[in-house]
Amino acid sequence: MIPQGKQRLGINIDHVATVRNARGSAWPDPLRAAILAEASGADGITAHLREDRRHIHDADIEALRAGIGIPLNFECAATDEMAAIALRIKPHAICLVPEKREERTTEGGLDVAGDENRLAQFIAPLRDAGCRVSMFIGHDERQIRSSARIGAAVVELHTGHYSELHAEGRFDEAEAELAALREGAALAYSLGLEVHAGHGLTFDNVAPIAAIPQIMELNIGHFLIGEAVFMGLGAAIEEMRRRMDAARA
Ligand code: PXP
Repeated sequence: MIPQGKQRLGINIDHVATVRNARGSAWPDPLRAAILAEASGADGITAHLREDRRHIHDADIEALRAGIGIPLNFECAATDEMAAIALRIKPHAICLVPEKREERTTEGGLDVAGDENRLAQFIAPLRDAGCRVSMFIGHDERQIRSSARIGAAVVELHTGHYSELHAEGRFDEAEAELAALREGAALAYSLGLEVHAGHGLTFDNVAPIAAIPQIMELNIGHFLIGEAVFMGLGAAIEEMRRRMDAARA
């Protein structure tokens, strides 16, 4: 059995805030981007409130929570500070990610297996508050089984390594990584987890990921915000949607 229904496209708007913060001005406004994304067919908005607030700020999260009509996926590290914010905001979903100050982006998956007891306790109140909690992990079996054991609703599989291999033209290795992602998606789904994927996805590499039947949602940010410079954000989202649908047809 594979899940039914359309694969959702979540848009990560962090890098609208990156451009805004480069000047310390009020524009471009992430909320405006989110509203445009919604109007262009996005099924959700992801925003990552990092500990160092390098892109999204607390006020952006408040504005997004109040200003969009599609689900907000609040991405954060598993810290007490973020739990308090999440419990106040009560977003539709919370995606837990590892965070290192020195990294440029989320480099690897969360080590759920190595931190199982703490994470089980961490997510319990978030679940009780009605949020769908997602673990951003690699495709390895240990992390998937741990995520199921602690009661996460969702796992988001990290596609960053696949995307890098694809961009470097290392297609045999990208194919092997894809096979592992397919296996991971099937295992997660068999354990009752909803399966999402994201990181580094582009027009050129999205199709094989979108075609994995168990994956119900893709979260895509950096490429689309960049492409918006050339074709506009709405058109970029529509083109991504078209490619996802074609891959699944
Ligand atoms: N999903 C998660 C959990 C992420 O951390 C990110 C990057 O912030 C994305 C998806 C989107 O990745 P990208 O910006 O490379 O499309």
